[in-house]
Amino acid sequence: MEKVAIYPGSFDPITYGHIDIIERALVIFDRVIVAIAHETEKNALFTVEERIDMVKEIFKDTPNVIADSFKGLLVDYVAKTNAVVIIRGLRATSDFEYEFHMASMNRSLNPHLETLFMMTSKDYFFVSSRTIKEVARLGGGVEGLVPDLVARCLRKKFKLPVNKKQQIGWDD
Ligand code: PNS
Repeated sequence: MEKVAIYPGSFDPITYGHIDIIERALVIFDRVIVAIAHETEKNALFTVEERIDMVKEIFKDTPNVIADSFKGLLVDYVAKTNAVVIIRGLRATSDFEYEFHMASMNRSLNPHLETLFMMTSKDYFFVSSRTIKEVARLGGGVEGLVPDLVARCLRKKFKLPVNKKQQIGWDD
């Protein structure tokens, strides 16, 4: 039977930290659904549609990565799929408490649902969507931490000049 995992999050925007987790999850699972939450407490920079489009473009050659979105409770969304596991990335110790609460709450809502944590690669343990947005907004380089297309979308959002190298891809 096909093993499907749900990788939920805000992905505002997707970073190489997320991509690393997805690629490693594909070694264990046949299919990974990147599930972008409509409602989070965070003020999103990108619309859900923009975030889905970025994921689709990045994984356009990997058909077993699906980009989707969900409203309401994650457990309700998972129940509508054939996923067996929720995947979350863990960076250092700071993520632990939040993740522990979230996994415990999800397990309390559905005792059959497991959350699998994967340690973020050492190259990306300091990367978060929040810091990426802050650095980009202030004109800093985020190349190497997000795909070129994401770097370009960030520059566009923040109305910063786009350099030649960053114009390759996406809608060319
Ligand atoms: O990338 P994030 O912002 O850490 O992802 C958090 C997310 C979207 C996975 C979480 O907020 C979520 O599952 N939201 C959906 C609502 C829900 O099910 N809440 C109960 C779990 S605590």
